[in-house]
Amino acid sequence: MICEPVMGAGGVIVPPKGYYEKIQAVCRKYDMLFVADEVICGFGRLGKWFSYQLYDGVVPDLMPIGKGMNGCILPVGGVVASREIAEVFERDRWYSGSTWDGHPLVCATIVSNIEAMIGEATLVPPIGHHPSGVLTVLPGASSWKSGTES
Ligand SMILES: Cc1ncc(COP(=O)(O)O)c(C=O)c1O
Repeated sequence: MICEPVMGAGGVIVPPKGYYEKIQAVCRKYDMLFVADEVICGFGRLGKWFSYQLYDGVVPDLMPIGKGMNGCILPVGGVVASREIAEVFERDRWYSGSTWDGHPLVCATIVSNIEAMIGEATLVPPIGHHPSGVLTVLPGASSWKSGTES
């Protein structure tokens, strides 16, 4: 099951309270992998390092990441895997490669960005609440538009 904690391209859709937790519970019940797509929402964009951390007890098996890894200064992408999934690939290696895998210039931008985030920046603190109980509201933002508001 692939989910995005807050759907970006579909219209910045904030899920109703409890939705994400229930999706994870269904995945666990039927032994399905739970993939939290953090390409848009990750790296501090919703006030936490990763947006799944906004949801109680939610821990993805796989986490695609991108954009915010290096502030989009160069094309980048990756997948974070749980220990359990990573061990499968350690045991049964899947050898593949591509021209730009692990490019040093891109890797340097990732390291610099993460160092800056840790050392210089403060992740956006919570100062308000979306009706879903999930999102924080940025200074100056008067309201959130979302198909889930009632
Ligand atoms: C939520 C989400 N996942 C995945 C992708 C794909 O990322 P990329 O274009 O870096 O491969 C995008 C691209 O915008 C995205 O918004």
